Amino acid sequence: MTQDEAKQLVAKRAVEFVEDGMAVGLGTGTTATMFIRELATRVQQGLKIRCVASSDASHDLGLSLGMDVKTLNELPELDLYVDGADEVGPGLVLIKGGGGALLREKIVASAAKEFLVVVDSTKLVERLGKFPLPVEVVKMAMPVVEPKLAGLGLNPKQRKARSGDGLFLTDEGNYILDCACGVIEDPEVLAAEIRGIVGVVEHGLFLGMATLALVAGEDGVTEHRG
Ligand code: A5P
Repeated sequence: MTQDEAKQLVAKRAVEFVEDGMAVGLGTGTTATMFIRELATRVQQGLKIRCVASSDASHDLGLSLGMDVKTLNELPELDLYVDGADEVGPGLVLIKGGGGALLREKIVASAAKEFLVVVDSTKLVERLGKFPLPVEVVKMAMPVVEPKLAGLGLNPKQRKARSGDGLFLTDEGNYILDCACGVIEDPEVLAAEIRGIVGVVEHGLFLGMATLALVAGEDGVTEHRG
């Protein structure tokens, strides 16, 4: 099974967790995109749901597929948030933000009663940190925040724009520093240290947020609880 096939499989399974009348948070990234497409098919077949997306891209995709996509202003409480992750560790601790949407993802996830993580089995790790940890930073604070993250031994690197010479800009107009920090011994401590730096808006450690992970691999889809 290829990674894309696994993502497709888990996206399809996640749709079974969505019930009529639910308010659903739509994630961001390749797996979340597959989920949105599968969910849209169910909507076209008559499923009645309202959604809020965690990025402009997912918002626009949902609308283009005929889904009822609202803002948090209109729909501040969600039943379920479904999104991918870059790493899933024991206890359902996550690294997210590879697609640059970590801030809105964390906000939308925090508005949901349940957070369903959908990943292929390559994302499962014993300890977080192989995937560079994204940290979202206010533009003007970059020259202040970058050396402070370096001082913590996190090896921050400015994320480049997908095209052109500039830096990557998030939907909220901030920069991202990707921190190749290696194994994260204590995610709670690191999260607090990073949040303590003025100018940091958010980081990609999602701790105590996910309620269930669906993991697709050679044996099909398995469920993992925290
Ligand atoms: C987007 O900012 C990320 O948090 C994604 O959820 C994460 O990078 C997983 O993406 P894929 O589903 O594309 O692997």
